[in-house]
Amino acid sequence: MASLRLDKLLSELGVATRSEIKAMAKKGRISVDGSVIKDTSLKVDPDVNSVFVDGRQISYINYEYIMLNKPAGYISATQDGRQKTVLELVSDNIRNDLFPAGRLDIDTEGLLLLTNDGALSHRLLSPKHHVDKTYYVEVDADLPGDAASRIADGIYCDEELTALPGKLEIIDNRRCYLTIHEGKFHQVKRMMKALGAEVTYLKRLSMGPLALDEGLKCGEYRRLNEEELKLLKEL
Ligand code: URA
Repeated sequence: MASLRLDKLLSELGVATRSEIKAMAKKGRISVDGSVIKDTSLKVDPDVNSVFVDGRQISYINYEYIMLNKPAGYISATQDGRQKTVLELVSDNIRNDLFPAGRLDIDTEGLLLLTNDGALSHRLLSPKHHVDKTYYVEVDADLPGDAASRIADGIYCDEELTALPGKLEIIDNRRCYLTIHEGKFHQVKRMMKALGAEVTYLKRLSMGPLALDEGLKCGEYRRLNEEELKLLKEL
């Protein structure tokens, strides 16, 4: 963020009106980087300077929460020298500090949350919170008859992964919904492999209380609505 006048910054943040802020400064109630500031025309850079009013630090971060229907061909990262990143899809680049809360493989589609709220992202992804993630899965071989019960028991995938119990809902021999509570590297693909099938198409439909908006085409995004935000914050 660029530098701007202290009174403008604080009024834009809703602390008080500009004239009230001037009066507060005269009384010594405002400090910047530890020094009391009486002249509110001082230019401050909210990314660099810490501003306190009555001893309380002013938070200038506006959080942003964007639901993206990720298309295949984009990586879940903020920067990459070679591959296109999901942030390139947010064309009007709502702000420059967004990051994906969690990862989908380059060939996976579906729900991805882009935010700049590190604490929320941590809660959503932390293994402690066991947030459910539901995927729509297509595979290249018929699923075995006992697939759902093996997934429900917690399936051994490989030396490094025995998946926690999950829920498999069969649509037909080669299509299913899978709900898991973890997010290990290539987890769905490894679980399907343990069932003897390779994933040919994967799409995340939901993550905790957030469900992919069916109105969003691949590559489209929108801000979360109030109800979604409320549910997320209750996590
Ligand atoms: N599991 C996978 O294998 N890939 C993903 O992108 C997400 C979950």
